Amino acid sequence: MAKQLRIGMIGYGFMGRTHSNAYRRVTNFFDLEYHPVLQAVCARNAEQVQAFADRWGYASIETDWRKLVERKDIDAIDICTPNNLHKEMALAAAANGKMILCEKPLSMNTAEGEEMVAAIEKAGVANTVWYNYRRVPAVTLAKQIIDSGKLGRIFHYRANFLQDWTISSDLPQGGAALWRLDAAAAGSGVTGDLLAHCIDTAIWLNGSIANVSAMTETFIKERTHTLTGKVEKVGIDDACAFLCRFQNGSLGLFESTRYARGHKALYTLEINGENASIRWDLHDLHRLQWFDHRDEGIVRGWRSIHVTDSDHPYMKAWWVPGLQIGYEHTFVHQVADFLQCLAEGKPCSPTFREALETQKVCDAVLSSAASHQWKNV
Ligand SMILES: NC(=O)c1ccc[n+]([C@@H]2O[C@H](COP(=O)([O-])OP(=O)(O)OC[C@H]3O[C@@H](n4cnc5c(N)ncnc54)[C@H](O)[C@@H]3O)[C@@H](O)[C@H]2O)c1
Repeated sequence: MAKQLRIGMIGYGFMGRTHSNAYRRVTNFFDLEYHPVLQAVCARNAEQVQAFADRWGYASIETDWRKLVERKDIDAIDICTPNNLHKEMALAAAANGKMILCEKPLSMNTAEGEEMVAAIEKAGVANTVWYNYRRVPAVTLAKQIIDSGKLGRIFHYRANFLQDWTISSDLPQGGAALWRLDAAAAGSGVTGDLLAHCIDTAIWLNGSIANVSAMTETFIKERTHTLTGKVEKVGIDDACAFLCRFQNGSLGLFESTRYARGHKALYTLEINGENASIRWDLHDLHRLQWFDHRDEGIVRGWRSIHVTDSDHPYMKAWWVPGLQIGYEHTFVHQVADFLQCLAEGKPCSPTFREALETQKVCDAVLSSAASHQWKNV
């Protein structure tokens, strides 16, 4: 008989949907001792949250998240709300002995993140942060290849996350999805929203970042705020680029913007080592590009590995070789790993403590941009 993990999810927006889908599908594809149960979903509007609960099969609803975290019939709290709510919710969940799956970025800043780490470690509860791109099979494969030493010494790490959806000055700040343009809700702009993903993957693949030199820009300086109805100063970074040095001596180059006309969600990364290079692109997420200088000269060139074979990470659980999977599966993989780790009594990466490292890099990036100086992480 499977053990139950009764989920209480807060927020039913974009991430609420990806997570609900993952909880529903995971045991259809992965053999697990623990099975998630959609026990309750919480948001402020009762009618809307009930409609979400009916659509996805949640057994109950709450409109006050404090009630949810106190419920005795909930084992794990899933935080899918804007960034400014993560800390308060995580502290309350930990105080009630709940496991926590928290959306990224962990917090608004390092100080908040440190409080959250202290709280969950004191409570001794299982925890993870949804940096889901680690669990794209091609990215996990990149990790395996790097760890096997095939690249040799690593010289360069390069990542971009480009979008174009905030170019119009008519967009307000605040409200559903647009809370991302409001510094009070988001903490920062593309740095915490998009570069945080690039930084998490980079640290995972290439180790810690030692220091950074960054520039940011806010192209549209004022926008109407949905809460006040007034035109207010925009406090987020619309674009950010930074250079860094990794602890292993390699150099990093990162860029993110929501003003790259034509790009919707172009997350790319490239790593250049002494023997070989790796390249990956979210728009073609089931492929890993691989160049090996040790190949025979006349056939040497970039190879495109179609990451669909059963010996590729996670792929055995899905279809047959040659048939690919997509974005939503990264969340299924994270739930599968969380449940597997729970059964084995192991931490599920990235834990709050690991995600705090990304927060420290984000803070160093913003501080470097503000001061026009290199900053140590
Ligand atoms: N892992 C990823 O790739 C990824 C992608 C998008 C967003 N995110 C993160 O997920 C989080 C949510 O983002 P989103 O895109 O789902 O936002 P969203 O605007 O689509 O949804 C936010 C949800 O939070 C709810 N909410 C807001 N205030 C609340 C309160 N006081 N009590 C209860 N519910 C409340 C809203 O009703 C809404 O359902 C953010 O931290 C964001 O950075 C991560």
